[in-house]
Amino acid sequence: MATKPTKVTISFDNDRAPVELPVLSGTLGNDVIDIRKLGKHGIYTYDPGFLSTASCSSDITFINGEEGNLYHRGYPIEQLAENANFLEVAHLLIKGDLPNAKEKKNFSLAIERHTMLHDQMLNVFRGFRRDAHPMAVIVSVVGAMAAFYPEQTNVTDPKLREIAALRLLAKAPTIAAWSYKYTIGQPFVYPQNKLSYAENFLYMMFATPCEEYVVSPILAKAFERILILHADHEQNASTSTVRLVGSSGANPFACIAAGIASLWGPAHGGANEATLKMLDEIGDVSCIDEYIARAKDKNDSFRLMGFGHRVYRNMDPRAAIMRKTCHEVLNELGLHDDPMFKLAMRLEKIALEDEYFVKRKLYPNVDFYSGIVMRAMGIPNSMFTAIFALARTAGWIAQWNEMHTDSSNKIGRPRQLYTGEAKRDFVPIDDRK
Ligand code: CMC
Repeated sequence: MATKPTKVTISFDNDRAPVELPVLSGTLGNDVIDIRKLGKHGIYTYDPGFLSTASCSSDITFINGEEGNLYHRGYPIEQLAENANFLEVAHLLIKGDLPNAKEKKNFSLAIERHTMLHDQMLNVFRGFRRDAHPMAVIVSVVGAMAAFYPEQTNVTDPKLREIAALRLLAKAPTIAAWSYKYTIGQPFVYPQNKLSYAENFLYMMFATPCEEYVVSPILAKAFERILILHADHEQNASTSTVRLVGSSGANPFACIAAGIASLWGPAHGGANEATLKMLDEIGDVSCIDEYIARAKDKNDSFRLMGFGHRVYRNMDPRAAIMRKTCHEVLNELGLHDDPMFKLAMRLEKIALEDEYFVKRKLYPNVDFYSGIVMRAMGIPNSMFTAIFALARTAGWIAQWNEMHTDSSNKIGRPRQLYTGEAKRDFVPIDDRK
């Protein structure tokens, strides 16, 4: 096997002197060329979409897209999804390791202490139209938290960062559930701290003050899994957004609100909602071929939602687990013959066998299955991305906190390749064409 390079030399096809750059190796994964000093030589790199650029170093999550591996702090996602609960995974991401029994209890207690929202926040919810999309409400309410906890603008104090992390993690289910309650005109349901994190969210979503509501253990287990599978995914668009906003020293609520905004897009967290919309639009197995043809047509902007991934060129390991959960939940709920589920399974089969998708290594991603599971659980489409945001809050906090402890952290400030007009003189209005 070839030895690992430790440096690389860039040579130019003119009289510019060659530049030598170090090559860095992580614990796992590809080596990276350290180009930080390249700018001093008057040259920059060009990489829209960060196709080949590592934006930071991180100890939190590792993905091998070729093999389809995902590890959090070294633990494979399959083992975490099978054995841990969401708060243990959040502890692992944020604090660096799985909690022991005492730490687990203390972490849960600390979260419980922060599940309620400041009462004045009800007015923030009430300022919205009833038909507001839950993501529009959530992004605003999370941002508005900065107005309730002004002391948290100090991001250099680790203790304050820890309190911010607890507040965000603890209040995320309440904010998400209330964004839904508001749109359906039902009273807000307060958190019940005797319930687990996953149960509490389902309780606040589905309970009403007028009758007893018992959270189904089947649904709670499936929901716990959804949360774990979405908890972190290294430097994706929303996490990179959180880091970029955070790099200026912005308060944690502004950073997480920015992450939520980025997640909302259909190419990212919005894909679960878009997948279900697409399945509804396809409507019947007989129409699948037409949609597959559209997805392959370069003159049509339509893409098969819930398929493909920037990093995975193999089955997304989260999708494999979610697929299994999907079958379990639909079986347990007696929904296996549901026409929409049958349609989804047929689409999955056709796409997996189609040369276009095979050649491009486009597999169903986690959002393809999570949307189906959430629909079966009675969760409306409009809440799918909100639930993704709720789970990803753990990862965003961990990455934001890591950034603040990294001594090499600098304000994020990309360069550009300018392609506009060269310098020209101002034209008075009467002389303009
Ligand atoms: N349907 C049809 N063609 C596709 C799809 C798709 N879903 N995804 C990629 N392609 C094609 C694309 O047209 C291109 O073809 P060609 O090489 O002939 O030009 C090739 O596959 C590579 O695509 P790309 O756009 O260069 O890939 P990317 O890494 O920039 O995009 C993606 C990744 C996830 C944005 C994209 O696959 C996509 O839009 N998928 C649908 C949306 C979706 O499901 N997103 C959820 C991602 S997983 C959850 C998360 O982490 O946020």
